[in-house]
Amino acid sequence: MEAPYDTSRAQSTATGADTVTPADPDAAAQVRLTVRTPDAMRELGRRLARLLRPGDLVLLTGQLGAGKTTLTRGLGEGLDVRGAVTSPTFVIARVHPPLGAGPALVHVDAYRLSGGLDEMEDLDLDVSLPESVVVVEWGEGRMEELSEDRLHVVIGRAEGADGPSLDEAVAGDDVRRVAVTGVGPRWAGTDLSSLTGLPG
Ligand SMILES: Nc1ncnc2c1ncn2[C@@H]1O[C@H](COP(=O)(O)OP(=O)(O)OP(=O)(O)O)[C@@H](O)[C@H]1O
Ligand SMILES: [Mg+2]
Repeated sequence: MEAPYDTSRAQSTATGADTVTPADPDAAAQVRLTVRTPDAMRELGRRLARLLRPGDLVLLTGQLGAGKTTLTRGLGEGLDVRGAVTSPTFVIARVHPPLGAGPALVHVDAYRLSGGLDEMEDLDLDVSLPESVVVVEWGEGRMEELSEDRLHVVIGRAEGADGPSLDEAVAGDDVRRVAVTGVGPRWAGTDLSSLTGLPG
């Protein structure tokens, strides 16, 4: 399997330090984080929420159990939307209306959306996507057409040279490495440093 993050450039991850790295060719902003606990993942979601505006698209990538839904739960808290964010196992998309003046959160699980964007439009969600924040689990490679601007969050378990020692792994180390990359003009020059320094 391809590494979920680019280990060649994540030089300081051995110490767990956060890094704001030089951008990928099409990355307008990028930050790499160490997320040690589910609570810290939720906090990352709450902090991300403060950066998001109506019409924003967030693509979440990471294997089963990586923490995509946990992050989205924090996003829902930060955006102050109605309804608990849960794993959308039996539905493909769930709309969480705003409790206040902010945007709705549309939480999509694209795992079973073989038709990608077309199928998503066929869902006929009773919500205006340009006025919502749309978060798509398993969205990479399927949902890019939704917007030239997107925030791509890649969650990987710590492994290889940067991973936990065997002792730590046996003790149930839960460290995740997360890369947050803004793509497109919307994210050009955006300061993502508020995402660094998560607790834990
Ligand atoms: N550092 C961490 N960050 C996030 N989740 C963690 C962390 N450590 C342990 N966990 C646990 O990993 C699990 C993540 O589950 P979650 O449903 O968020 O993953 P997911 O990526 O949405 O999975 P799926 O692909 O099945 O939708 C939870 O049980 C959570 O408690
Ligand atoms: Mg999930």
